[in-house]
Amino acid sequence: MTILTNIAQLVTVASGGAPSKTGAAMRDLGVLDNAAIVFSDVIEWIGAVDDLPSVYMEQANEVVDCRGQVVLPGFVDAHTHMVFAGSRAHEFARRLSGVPYTEIAAEGGGILTTVRAVREASVEEIVEIGERLVQSAIEHGTTTIEIKSGYGLSTESELKLLAAAGALQQEMPIDIAVTFLGAHAIPPEYASQPEAYVDLVIEDMLPKVQEQGIATACDVFTDVGFFSREQSERILKAAADRGFALHVHADEIANIGASEMAAAVGALSADHLEYTTPENMAALREADVVGVLLPGTAYTLRLPYPDARAMIDHGMVVALATDCNPGSCLSENMQLMLSLACANMGMSIEEAITAATLHGAHALRMSDRVGSLEVGKLANLVIYDVPSYADIVYHFGVNQVYSVWSHGVEIA
Ligand code: NIG
Ligand code: FE
Repeated sequence: MTILTNIAQLVTVASGGAPSKTGAAMRDLGVLDNAAIVFSDVIEWIGAVDDLPSVYMEQANEVVDCRGQVVLPGFVDAHTHMVFAGSRAHEFARRLSGVPYTEIAAEGGGILTTVRAVREASVEEIVEIGERLVQSAIEHGTTTIEIKSGYGLSTESELKLLAAAGALQQEMPIDIAVTFLGAHAIPPEYASQPEAYVDLVIEDMLPKVQEQGIATACDVFTDVGFFSREQSERILKAAADRGFALHVHADEIANIGASEMAAAVGALSADHLEYTTPENMAALREADVVGVLLPGTAYTLRLPYPDARAMIDHGMVVALATDCNPGSCLSENMQLMLSLACANMGMSIEEAITAATLHGAHALRMSDRVGSLEVGKLANLVIYDVPSYADIVYHFGVNQVYSVWSHGVEIA
């Protein structure tokens, strides 16, 4: 048993058992001043230092004095593409000179550049890239992460990416949720017959992914130049029939009805949402679809930022994630995502913290175990060397993490 004591601010994000907190409740972080927390793999006690029962002090193997420090739940990064190969630095440079992302994609670059590298890479090479990114995410305060496939686009290469994600699940010290994203782009060999690729995803990939047993969810990139609403719906319904949870890349480049579809098919989350309308927001709220917003992507691609303010005011459950991938956002730093979200998306510091913890967990339907610091939940927490939680967002572009704990064990 471990005790962290003399915590200047313990930010619990407590929801009292509710899976998420909407509207004004999103701003209630349940902060305890001069607090202590007692845990094994799960949290056993939380309260003011003065109320800490002496029996815990007698039983503890380790007492950590957090004088002047701040403790938060570990971040839940609910949207990443951390299994890939190669680099897109050259395309980044071209985009800076004004060439649009869509033009590079239409030339066979973009996602397809990474697909070529993945098809030539071994599982070990992909795992090595993933290890570095996951390790760095941990060091920046993330204790639960989602990883998608999607740079293979053939049955063999998608299974290779999922095997790499499975290896990361086994060896990294945090919980990793794996998502199959076979419908990330149309591969070049199917350019003239996209429907046949949709059939391949449904008839060949989905059954084999199910059999392999690593991915629990299925995602589709529903957008102009990628998968139509109809194609996406076919894939998502087939995935749901096989027991996969659903996520959708929605309204990123244009609004072709992707978020509306996400609500209709019962997706856990609709992600991106740069071009989402107020009507779409209402539909997402009604269907309890989490809006996973990715400010690092809007920043990198210079897209209009998603209107988080309107979404929260519409009562939607809003989460923040990195989208960490080689093309549209190569960052695994959730602290930076909070700063970008507050500066550009009309979110308060409190809303951003709830979005990056409890609501990331709800997007993965894991908020019964992670995402807030409450008795009975996993002891996934991060100590920051800052005078107040606001400083995590205010003092940006540097790493403020002091130490990271997953399942009650110090891992960084
Ligand atoms: O989430 N939107 C689709 N997929 C990724 C981008 C992938 C890439 O450019 O490699 C995203 O932004
Ligand atoms: Fe993405």
